[in-house]
Amino acid sequence: MPTALYPGTFDPPTNGHFDIIERAAGLFDRVIVTVALNSSKKFLFSIEERLAMLEEVIGSFGEDLSSRVEIARFNGLLVDFAREQNASVIVRGLRTLGDFEYEMQMALMNRRLASQINTVFIAADERYIHLNSTIVRDLARHGAPLDELVPASVAQRLVARFSESG
Ligand code: COA
Repeated sequence: MPTALYPGTFDPPTNGHFDIIERAAGLFDRVIVTVALNSSKKFLFSIEERLAMLEEVIGSFGEDLSSRVEIARFNGLLVDFAREQNASVIVRGLRTLGDFEYEMQMALMNRRLASQINTVFIAADERYIHLNSTIVRDLARHGAPLDELVPASVAQRLVARFSESG
């Protein structure tokens, strides 16, 4: 059974991401949730905080699932990290048609860089198709409820971060 990477920036991880992680762990023996360090994005949470949020939630998945899921940080090209980890699959969640074009472009470029690595798309749960981390950060900044969008531990960190910054 191949090892799969599930890459992203996870700033913060949302229920949409955890849905994909759970589904991927049902398909692959080893899933490495791969947190990007070198994105052009401006982050609300540090890499350590993003790793800790993922760890807290994945640790609560139950032994069967959490034993298949690892968390790692990466810098540089995703395909290089995949080779290092002996991973031959990249998992990506597909939410809307809008995702498709961007995802195909990335999948084809990654394949060009490393033809033995395949991208597998997992259809997002319909509850999360309009969710992304920017929306979650925005809602948190304005004190809106975050139930059903992020796990409680992530919501607590968001509330704390925005109460620190006033
Ligand atoms: N549910 C909810 N939200 C989701 C989601 C899901 N299933 N899947 C993605 N999202 C959100 C993310 O939170 C993110 O939100 P934000 O833009 O508001 O922060 C947004 O959708 C885009 O996510 P994603 O496409 O995963 O982008 P990313 O910036 O999180 O990660 C990398 C992109 C890191 C995977 C990609 O840039 C990469 O591989 N970089 C490494 C360099 C490299 O190899 N480049 C060549 C690639 S061709």
